[in-house]
Amino acid sequence: MARDFTQAEVDAVYKAILARRDIRVFLPDKLPDDVVDRILRAGHHGPSVGYMQPWNFVVIQDKEVLRALQAVVEKERIRAGEPYSDAKRDYYLRLKVEGLVEAPMTICVTNDPTRGGPHVLGRNTIPETDLMSTACAIENMWLAARAEGVAMGWVSIYEKDDVRKILGIPNHVDPAALLTIGYTPHFPEIPLLERVGWGTRRDFAEVVFENRWGTRPARST
Ligand SMILES: Cc1cc2nc3c(=O)[nH]c(=O)nc-3n(C[C@H](O)[C@H](O)[C@H](O)COP(=O)(O)O)c2cc1C
Repeated sequence: MARDFTQAEVDAVYKAILARRDIRVFLPDKLPDDVVDRILRAGHHGPSVGYMQPWNFVVIQDKEVLRALQAVVEKERIRAGEPYSDAKRDYYLRLKVEGLVEAPMTICVTNDPTRGGPHVLGRNTIPETDLMSTACAIENMWLAARAEGVAMGWVSIYEKDDVRKILGIPNHVDPAALLTIGYTPHFPEIPLLERVGWGTRRDFAEVVFENRWGTRPARST
């Protein structure tokens, strides 16, 4: 049985997982290059289907570019509120859903579904495993950032073509995520959307089945 983490290291991994938060409030302080480098490398060490590594990381600090990204997000934020009833729309529009201009840096994580050619090992039946791989890279970055005391906010409210145009991303490559990163005054314990009453974490006992869909485990979880 291979076990090579000390108990303190195991505890640290769970600490990062449980303390990770989506953050939208940033201090303007610049991040040291070595910290950014470690966070990017954490992403690049993520798992990927057939080892295709479909990601690239566009690191953006130019305020003009960040303002352009913020404008296209703002356009979609307003549009995303349209399907809600008046009261819920007001509530939604008051939520802070991005910190693109406040954060000193944003990383656009891209996903290239063509990388590795048409026959990527293990990707034949579930083609979206490319994007799943990129999401794994992003979670690695999020956890590494949290351990470094760096806040990250995932922004996904944009038209991909708008972001492609601003960043010069080729048409076959997807801008999968805009990750705002920087220091924050506070890492809250509870997710923002839970604190404002938008949603709550589902009961753990309701999400685990045993052997068959819908069968609750006999043991207590
Ligand atoms: C794929 C994905 C897209 C997201 N897009 C946004 C977004 O556009 N704006 C935002 O404020 N939060 C976004 N989030 C963050 C979620 O709202 C957040 O993860 C969730 O409310 C739980 O909070 P926590 O991350 O602090 O645990 C996104 C998260 C994921 C995984």
